[in-house]
Amino acid sequence: MSMDVAKIFDRLWNDYTIQNPHVRQVYEAFVAKGENVVNDHIAFRTIDDPRISIEVLAKPFLESGYEFKGEYIFEDKHLHAKHFEHKTKTDAPRVFISELVTRFFSEPLQQTVKILIDQIHSDILNSGELIFSGRHWKNISFKVYENLRKESEYAAWFYVWGFCANHFTVSVNHLSEMNTLEKVNQFLKEKGFPLNSSGGEIKGTPGELLEQSSTKAGKQLISFIEGDYEIPACYYEFARRYADANGKLYSGFIAKSADKIFESTDNK
Ligand code: NI
Repeated sequence: MSMDVAKIFDRLWNDYTIQNPHVRQVYEAFVAKGENVVNDHIAFRTIDDPRISIEVLAKPFLESGYEFKGEYIFEDKHLHAKHFEHKTKTDAPRVFISELVTRFFSEPLQQTVKILIDQIHSDILNSGELIFSGRHWKNISFKVYENLRKESEYAAWFYVWGFCANHFTVSVNHLSEMNTLEKVNQFLKEKGFPLNSSGGEIKGTPGELLEQSSTKAGKQLISFIEGDYEIPACYYEFARRYADANGKLYSGFIAKSADKIFESTDNK
């Protein structure tokens, strides 16, 4: 059954802003400046297990009029990603879904991840609900979290948060006054929101046709078996796209830039 696209994004946005109060604060600061906030893309994280792979997460979007547009490899982080765009609704955000390629990791990591996925109810796996469904494993261990983090911050993040929008991204092209990333970043810093500065505050160049920046993920207190710890949750991203030589606005992603954006949720 296909869902209305706007409903999908409203629901994801609602969950995302409840879990990440700084995102709502940034959004409201833009609106207070009279800006019209349009989403460039939203992103999800998953694992390459066929039960919860990119294809599985993409299903509700494909059923709602989205189509495959691009594929990306992140060699250092051992990630694989695809992006999707709506066939007719040009204002619908792009959807970017990445997955951890587990064969590059240790046997214990692969085993840990498999045990987590085994706990997801098959009803959820085969429904359009997976993208909204959060974490399916109840008792999480800080020791397991730390072990995952030694190999992959991405795997550790997934262990705590499961399925949700990892970030929404504001289209800077649609902002009227704050129409450059320099202006956006300056505004965020003045308001006291820390930026991800890994690889510089602005990732990408006009020559690459895409510039991106992001907040650092806010930390949330999470209950582990061993006690409560503050763990990075989600971040808010900003993207400015440029036209190519033919005057067509670039619509893809730059792996080198996205590689650094992934670090917005690193626990360091
Ligand atoms: Ni992004």
